[in-house]
Amino acid sequence: MSTIILGIESSCDDTSAAVLKDGEILSNHTATQIAHKEYGGVVPEVASRAHQINIIPVIDLAIKQAGIKKSDISAIAFTRGPGLMGSLLVGVSFAKAMAMSLDVPMVEVNHMKGHVLAHFAENPKPKFPFLCLTVSGGHTQIVLVRDYLDMEVIGTTIDDAAGEAFDKTGKLLGLDYPAGPIIDKLAQQGQHVFQFPEPKIKDLDFSFSGLKTSILYFLKKEIKKNPKFIEENLNDICASVQTTIVTFLMNKLQKAAAQTGIKEIAIAGGVSANSELRHTLSKIGEENGWNTYIPSFEFCTDNAAMIAVTGYYKFLKGEFVGQDVAPTARYKI
Ligand code: KG4
Ligand code: ZN
Repeated sequence: MSTIILGIESSCDDTSAAVLKDGEILSNHTATQIAHKEYGGVVPEVASRAHQINIIPVIDLAIKQAGIKKSDISAIAFTRGPGLMGSLLVGVSFAKAMAMSLDVPMVEVNHMKGHVLAHFAENPKPKFPFLCLTVSGGHTQIVLVRDYLDMEVIGTTIDDAAGEAFDKTGKLLGLDYPAGPIIDKLAQQGQHVFQFPEPKIKDLDFSFSGLKTSILYFLKKEIKKNPKFIEENLNDICASVQTTIVTFLMNKLQKAAAQTGIKEIAIAGGVSANSELRHTLSKIGEENGWNTYIPSFEFCTDNAAMIAVTGYYKFLKGEFVGQDVAPTARYKI
């Protein structure tokens, strides 16, 4: 008999549902909330209300696109955390109600493990052990992945995440939220002409808050000389900031590869959609003899396919949870 997992993701501002049959993705449907654009960041209250509105149509569509019936579902996998409490509550509560009505087991999933295992939603799949640079709006981690469910964070940010560095820079430049994809686009027409210092952080850890401060002071100084500085140099500022962030990330990833001797190298999370990061990883990977794994765009930013995949491996091990499970805003890998 086939194993069919329904995955539900609602940790931040994307409501997503996916159906997985024996490890193969049949559907992966996401409703992205655009209401946060004007606020310059995700507003938790707005996000949970939107999840409440989106969750039924999103799940209905994922089931329809997969060509299955609700009664075919073997288990429901859902994101338990980390994330925004109000957002998580919508997905967790819905998963509980649906599991109870269908009389199927539930599997809880750590969102960050999900980003790593998104690589198993498509081919080629990394071989164990591999390193995964997981870069999103809330996290920046180098994860040593020994097996599907055996992961260790060997480097992390001590302050802001890489995605936050993009988004906060965007705010300083007057760009909409999320600024990452906008900076990526503008940078393609610019040059890396402005220099920002690389923070000296020990081991495999990262720091991005100093970069934000140096960009702020740099802009203040330049605007004093020329009030139209941002407008006249936007593409070059974006290219400079992007190259700086990508260089920080790649330097630590190279250090991690050298320290562990691992040559299977993956990237994951929203920032892994960045064109310069993708290109630089391929280039450095070739120079170092690495096998590199870059997810398709639909598996970079938040999606339920990654939750269904992680749920599948937990299902195979019989790792289920009961109706008393609660979401958790902070949740370590
Ligand atoms: O993984 P994700 O969808 O959500 C979280 O779990 O946080 O990541 C969202 C982050 C945002 O900070 C967004 O600006 C960033 O990913 N992002 C990008 C790009 N696309 C999304 N950053 C740089 N370049 C991109 N192309
Ligand atoms: Zn995420």
